[in-house]
Amino acid sequence: MEQRYVKETRCYKTNRVFPTDVNNHNTLFGGKLMAYIDDIASIAAYKHCRCSVVTASTDSVDFLTPIRPTDSVCFESFVTWTGRSSMEVFVKVIKEDLRTGERDIAATSFLTFVALDEQNRPVTVPAVVPETAEEIRLHETAEHRSEMRRQRREQSKKFADVLTTKFAWE
Ligand SMILES: CC(C)(COP(=O)(O)OP(=O)(O)OC[C@H]1O[C@@H](n2cnc3c(N)ncnc32)[C@H](O)[C@@H]1OP(=O)(O)O)[C@@H](O)C(=O)NCCC(=O)NCCS
Repeated sequence: MEQRYVKETRCYKTNRVFPTDVNNHNTLFGGKLMAYIDDIASIAAYKHCRCSVVTASTDSVDFLTPIRPTDSVCFESFVTWTGRSSMEVFVKVIKEDLRTGERDIAATSFLTFVALDEQNRPVTVPAVVPETAEEIRLHETAEHRSEMRRQRREQSKKFADVLTTKFAWE
């Protein structure tokens, strides 16, 4: 079976925080951070399967510490685990106080991408091989997260069945 090392999927991107990026607390706007996370995660997934990918889900984004205009914000993403056509991607967000060099984990997130063929059908992806202690830990715990996602998806589908698509005035 075809396989790739986690390191072959790894991506990094560092941004400044400009006035247009912040909320009314003068910290990085959460929606902006989520867009950056989805963006860099999709590149890791694409590098893994070398075909088109779509975001199937984002587990959660845990905003651990605020990111301020005096910080840089570094995003790191890599594929941690694969199913048949799905890939779990981990994104680590590290902020660095540019005045002191102090670095902190600002946010973490797990996303799932599905590889698609030219007809937009899910297609088999290579297995992923972890090497570092961090990669191995994330790989070993992924099966459990995948099962949690499966259960949540079932609940979301049932929930959608009882929701109306009508406008309030209809
Ligand atoms: C994601 C999508 C392609 C899955 O298609 P599907 O017809 O449900 O296909 P399947 O049921 O065969 O699932 C394919 C894989 O996706 C995984 N999957 C599907 N929905 C998932 C979800 N919500 N979370 C995590 N994994 C999911 C399945 O577990 C399966 O994994 P596996 O092949 O590794 O076992 C389809 O639901 C879709 O197109 N969703 C919209 C995606 C989108 O528009 N994203 C952009 C967000 S704005």
